[in-house]
This record gives sequence, structure tokens and C-alpha cells, in this order.
Amino acid sequence: MPASQSAAVQTPQTYQPRIFSGIQPSGGLTLGNYLGALKRFVEKQDEGIETIYCMVDMHAITVWQDPAKLRQQTREGAAAFIAAGIDPSRSILFNQSQVSAHAELGWIFSCIARMGWMSRMTQWKDKTAGKNAEAASLGLFAYPALMAADILAYKATMVPVGEDQKQHLELTRDIAIKFNNDYGVDFFPVVEPLIEGAATRVMSLRDGTKKMSKSDPSDQSRINLTDDADTIATKIRKSKTDPLPLPETVDGLKDRPEARNLVNIYAALAGHTVDQVVADFAGAQFGTFKPALADLAVAKLSPITTEMNRLMQDPAEIDRILGHGADRAAALADPILEQVYDITGMIRSRRR
Ligand code: TYM
Repeated sequence: MPASQSAAVQTPQTYQPRIFSGIQPSGGLTLGNYLGALKRFVEKQDEGIETIYCMVDMHAITVWQDPAKLRQQTREGAAAFIAAGIDPSRSILFNQSQVSAHAELGWIFSCIARMGWMSRMTQWKDKTAGKNAEAASLGLFAYPALMAADILAYKATMVPVGEDQKQHLELTRDIAIKFNNDYGVDFFPVVEPLIEGAATRVMSLRDGTKKMSKSDPSDQSRINLTDDADTIATKIRKSKTDPLPLPETVDGLKDRPEARNLVNIYAALAGHTVDQVVADFAGAQFGTFKPALADLAVAKLSPITTEMNRLMQDPAEIDRILGHGADRAAALADPILEQVYDITGMIRSRRR
């Protein structure tokens, strides 16, 4: 075996615990992003695990983005991370396009992943349903291979996400396993999705069967992290509900998607279990519950919005933080990528 290869071929190994996750700057962040992702990113950082977080701007351009808005939303997203409690000296925080390992490994994984795997992705199917799939970008189709590269460029072992990303993480596992098998190595870890808590799928405020999303045409369907206190309270007051009072038990929330969603949001914001919230509000009317939820949401979100606005006054400082994070990220990813090139048989003799 050539010397250069022997470094890459490894015996079964244990991987250092490391967390990676990302958010697309394709619109303003929502309460869904906050409860399903950001809030949990902060918890993981505070548990002392090595954490790497990324604004995935290269994912965002799988559908056309206005360049000025993309820049603004990337900075705003970074500001949201920091305002929510990500400390850029403890976590690595950067935007994806600054670290070329993502694109490079993304290409290699496009050669590992199979067309059939990609066409089974429900997000791809949803995004192209009723539309001309032929007109969708190749990037949108290949997107989960880039997502796998985001994670595996750092050999991350755990990925906190909302429920909607579960299938993409299963694909990440499949890519890692196939790469390891194809090249006879034990190189990439098989990642563990972390989908935890009361709000892994926050639903629309207008329709409890639809996910809360930054791309929903109705602004009333979501709470944005940039909404002021009055807007948050109004959206919650006007949110769709049913005529019944809140149930005595969690089971009573079955078949009541809107009620269940508001209870889940309350639990996640308060840091209580759903059982606790149901016990506290058993028999209450929405006329009582909604104002309590609005007060809680304002109390938890307003300080974040205020801090985001403050940080956005100084975009150069945000860019400096992202640049510093990108340097640290590249220092981790580049040696891993070099090994991948070696494993796959690519000559890397240029002097750098
Ligand atoms: P994105 O940008 O759509 O969402 C970012 C994170 O927020 C979570 N989320 C939600 N959680 C609960 N309820 C909701 N309504 C809700 N809406 C969004 C998402 O589950 C996600 O955790 N493909 C990813 C971005 C990505 C990524 C990665 C994530 C790219 N590379 C590598 C993890 C690791 C996406 O589009 O997320």
C-alpha cells in the first residue's frame, strides 16, 4: 500500500463528539427556526460539546436569491445566532461559502449519492410538486449531498435539527456508509440526528397541519424573529384555534392540530414539558391561554430581537466574526478534505 494511502485507511475508530448544524439565509428566521434549531444550538454549546454552526448561503441559492437580500439575510441570521446566545468564541460561527471544503466535498458526495436516493427526498418532491421539475435547478436536486458535505467535512457526529431534516440526515448516513464501503475505509462517522424537545415541528399559526415556514406567502402564519412585541401578540391572538377549551390530558390534543401546536410552542418557550403545560391550563379557554402565550413569547423573543437590531447596526463587526469563524472552520475541514482526496486517488502536488 502506498505510504500516502496508509494515513487515510483507518481501523475502526471512535469519533470525537462534535456538533454541526446550519440554517439557510433564504428569508428571515421564524419561531420554527428558533425553537427547532437555534435555541437547541445554544443548549448544546452550553453543554460544552464542540459546536460548529453555519449560515448555509450556498444552499440558499438553489433557488434564486436577490444578492443584496442574501447578504443582508446572512448577516441577520448570524446576528440571530449571537442574539440567541451563541458565543462566537466558544462555537464556530461562519457562512458556508467562505469555506471551500463544503463545495469540494459536496462534489465528491454527488458522485457517491445515487439519483434514486435524491429523487426520493420528500422536500424535493414537495418543492417540485405541481410545478415543472425540469425547470428546478440541478443544485436543488443535489442539495442533500451538499448538506452531507457540510456535516462530514468536520466529521461531525451529532446534528441538531427540526423534524423536517430527518430524511436528509438519513441520506447523510447513507453517503458516509457508501463512501466508507466504496473505498474500504472507516473514515466518516455515521451521524446521529438530534431531534428533541416539544417543538421539533412548529406548525403554521393559520393551519395546524402545515409547517411554519419562512417561505409561506402569509406573514400571519409565522412569527419572525424580527417581529416587534405588538406584532407577535397580534399574530398569536389571531392564530387559528378550535372552539373547545384546553384538554385535561395530552391525549386530548390528538386531532386538534392548532391547539397542540400552541401548547407545544408554550412548552418549548417556557422550557416545560407538554404534560406540565396541559396540567397548568387544563380546561382553560383560548381567551385565557393565548394572552399567556403571547406574554411568554414576547418575554422570550423581544430581548433577542432587540439584540439582533443592535448587532445589525455594525455589519462590519458581523463580517469580522464570520471571517474569524470561517478561518477556524477551514482549519478543521481542510486536513479532512486532503485525506478524502488521498483516499479517492487524486494527486495534490501543488505547492500551497
Ligand atoms: P432550514 O434553513 O429550512 O431550517 C433551519 C433549521 O430550522 C429547523 N426548522 C424548524 N424546526 C421546527 N419547526 C419548524 N417549523 C421549522 N422550520 C425550520 C430545521 O429543521 C433546521 O434544523 N437543509 C437545512 C439546512 C442545512 C443543514 C446542513 C442543517 C444545510 N446543511 C447541515 C443541518 C446540517 C435547511 O434547509 O434548514
